[in-house]
Amino acid sequence: MDMREKLEQLAGYRAKLAAGGGPERIAKQHEAGKKTARERVDMFFDPGTFVEVDVFAGGEDMENPGSPGEGVVTGYGQVDGRKVFVFAQDFTVTGGSLGRIHAAKICKVLDMAVKVGAPVIGLNDSGGARIQEGVDALNGYGSIFFRNTIASGVVPQISVIMGPCAGGAVYSPALTDFIFMVAGTGQMFITGPQVIKATTGEDVSMETLGGASTHNQVSGVAHFLAGAEEECLTQVRQLLGYLPSNNLEEPPVFEPVEPPGNPDGILDVVPVDPNKGYDVRQAIRYVVDAGDLFEVQAHWAQNAVVGFARLQGQAVGIVANQPGYLAGCLDINASDKISRFVRFCDCFNLPIITFMDVPGFLPGTGQEYGGIIRHGAKMLYAYSEATVPKITVILRKAYGGAYLAMCSSSLGADAVYAWPTAEIAVMGPDGAVNIIHRREIAEAENPPLTRAKLTAEYRDRFANPYVAAARGYVLDVIDPRETRGVVAGALANFGSKRESRPRKKHGNIPL
Ligand code: HXC
Repeated sequence: MDMREKLEQLAGYRAKLAAGGGPERIAKQHEAGKKTARERVDMFFDPGTFVEVDVFAGGEDMENPGSPGEGVVTGYGQVDGRKVFVFAQDFTVTGGSLGRIHAAKICKVLDMAVKVGAPVIGLNDSGGARIQEGVDALNGYGSIFFRNTIASGVVPQISVIMGPCAGGAVYSPALTDFIFMVAGTGQMFITGPQVIKATTGEDVSMETLGGASTHNQVSGVAHFLAGAEEECLTQVRQLLGYLPSNNLEEPPVFEPVEPPGNPDGILDVVPVDPNKGYDVRQAIRYVVDAGDLFEVQAHWAQNAVVGFARLQGQAVGIVANQPGYLAGCLDINASDKISRFVRFCDCFNLPIITFMDVPGFLPGTGQEYGGIIRHGAKMLYAYSEATVPKITVILRKAYGGAYLAMCSSSLGADAVYAWPTAEIAVMGPDGAVNIIHRREIAEAENPPLTRAKLTAEYRDRFANPYVAAARGYVLDVIDPRETRGVVAGALANFGSKRESRPRKKHGNIPL
């Protein structure tokens, strides 16, 4: 064969491999409402930028590649002009199941991504361990878990669940920073419906057990929910826009955009009645660029709000209590949600802006038995450990341990500001008066009247921002309309801060 004939042969081999599992299985994939791995990769990257690696992996007999690409397409490309690595499991080839070479391909892109400092996106759609490959498949998963762990905090890792992801296979996504799920097709579970039926007698469908709604609303395993694959990949691209490529870089900077609407609107966000809830996202929208908050875990632990935004073009992490849900109390799930997000921001040089309106930790045996002590401790640990700029704005309630946990000055906040509506104290007026004036109220001629009078007195004396400001725990009491400017100014000021911690192997966060 001369060169031209060899090139023709090469083109033929390439075409065979690019056809994946062939037209029938591709048609089946489409019927199931799913795109193929290659279609997904093309949809995800800037047009024409994808470079496949290990194109011939596994196919020793090129005339008849039994398992084209070994069930996974790997490589790198660009997202908004920035380098990103990908692996996309190909369900049309042996159900996207993972064997030795499939795993080695994934490990290779993880290694490459760490080497060059670029994010890795995994598009998961797989029947799990390739049964015929036995222990080699298990070892393959282990090798991926190991690399996910080593890469954690070095490059952003994002998992997208676009088909089945079952058994131990779920642990690679679980080790990554964020999990996106596509409604209707993405499913994750450790043991499937049949095993559950056999062991516990419970009847449950795959979707109810491990669908996108379940993991976005109930378990908190997933962070983002999309109605369809295209929408999901657009969300991933959006998220990447807030992140640096690795832990040694800064996030990309955009042109600042003023928030929409009349700035005076922020004055009406906090209700006059201190016991009334409201949507804290309304306050955030008056502060951040274009009013855009890219919320993470929007459907789970809704008493806390976390997400990404920009302030004067600079990407930041936002953490807030949500007084419109469980009065904004901190509970087990909210503690986990906030702590993990704070640690992510600290890994990747994203300043953290905290909006506080918290009446306390949620009371009850359910919370105590569930270990609110060790879960709540994660927040104290995560905020204390974080060395990125930390700016806190107290909108209203700031009580007790929850005040400390929401990044008070004592946990290392660089700047704490309070609105005039702030109430910073050990506990709320009602609870406090019942304890410190118990005898006086019991002995009063008219206990309810006395209690009301003492409560009003307590509120005037303690439930305000001035006691804390007088002691230096709050830098300034600000007009809510100034929040955007004041926080942006603080970011500019503290962006250059240097903060170090004692050298150690690693800390021991309470898990
Ligand atoms: C080898 C597999 C496979 C697997 C699917 N296939 N899963 N081959 N190993 N794990 C093959 C099928 O034989 C079939 O081949 C093709 O992929 C498509 O599968 P279908 O069953 O036709 O597709 P569908 O009806 O959509 O069902 C998808 C499915 C089902 C629900 C994922 O295939 C399934 O239950 N698979 C087995 C899942 C499983 O138990 N995996 C092991 C889990 S344990 P043909 O040639 O007929 O098209 C595990 C441990 C990991 O993963 C541990 C890590 C620590």
